[in-house]
Amino acid sequence: MIEKIENLKSELQSLTASNTGEVEQLRIKYLSKKGLVTSLFSEFRNVPAEQKKELGQRLNELKTLAADRINELRESLSGGTDDDQCDIDLTRTATPLPLGTRHPLSLVRNEMIDIFARMGFTVAEGPEIEDDWHVFSALNFAADHPARDMQDTFFIMREPDVLLRTHTSSVQTRVMEKNQPPIRIVCPGRVYRNEAISARAHCFFHQIEGLYIDRDVSFADLKQALLYFAQQMFGAETKVRLRPSYFPFTEPSAEMDISCNLCGGKGCGFCKHTGWVEILGCGMVDPNVLEACGIDSKVYTGYAFGMGIERITNLKYRVKDLRMFSENDVRFLDEFIAAR
Ligand code: DAH
Repeated sequence: MIEKIENLKSELQSLTASNTGEVEQLRIKYLSKKGLVTSLFSEFRNVPAEQKKELGQRLNELKTLAADRINELRESLSGGTDDDQCDIDLTRTATPLPLGTRHPLSLVRNEMIDIFARMGFTVAEGPEIEDDWHVFSALNFAADHPARDMQDTFFIMREPDVLLRTHTSSVQTRVMEKNQPPIRIVCPGRVYRNEAISARAHCFFHQIEGLYIDRDVSFADLKQALLYFAQQMFGAETKVRLRPSYFPFTEPSAEMDISCNLCGGKGCGFCKHTGWVEILGCGMVDPNVLEACGIDSKVYTGYAFGMGIERITNLKYRVKDLRMFSENDVRFLDEFIAAR
């Protein structure tokens, strides 16, 4: 039996095959149920006990050798030309996968959040479907304010009132109701207004609201935070100016302009030859708002601001038609691949 094993071993060493079909024939010849190696295992049963140990070892070696040799032959043939085999050609160039791009509004929103995060603001979000209290009443809107009219606001129901928020200031209300100062948040989100859709107006758009409430927060803090934001967003040479304005929820209130980033403030068609473009509304939170939300206005003061993300995106990327943002035309979206 030892001789048979040794003969098979040398036979196996010199095996050759020219295609995978032949390899399979060899596997059957040696390793199938009736194969040469397998049948030696049947003979093994008749071997005298004292030889079992040595022969058992040799037989196992033979079986491993046979399996290894057949695998080697099979591997050396893969990548060959045999047509009953499915080959992977590693030299072929890969098919390029088209990558998606982030939406320009997402790019700009993320950049804005990053800038405010550097000043310690965290992100807060609230529902788009709201009620009168969070959008108007808590924010000191007079009972006859035109925003409460169906002309301006999409009402889902009148009694009880359910409406689509018209600004992200509603998130202020929700955060102040649930938290005591210090509060330092930015609230990005979509808002809705009953407007005819055109290049310059849409029935939905996006805003970022900011709110900072603590002891001794001043108008100077507001101005410094907004100047930092403007220079980070539009470049270190950017100038800002505040003009007095009115919002129900802030007192005093202001609107902020930045020096036109197209002409550098010299005056051009874009800034209507004024050198300035408006980017946001802001002010000191009205004490009535703090009290409505359960914050002691004798102890705390705060500032707030709100701006449109489309507006900031337009200033950065000169998108001329607001409708582009929601039409999902990939030719438009692909222009932002580099900005990703
Ligand atoms: N909510 C205002 C709007 O939609 C924007 C705004 C102005 C928000 C002044 C503020 C603010 O927080 O202080 O037009």
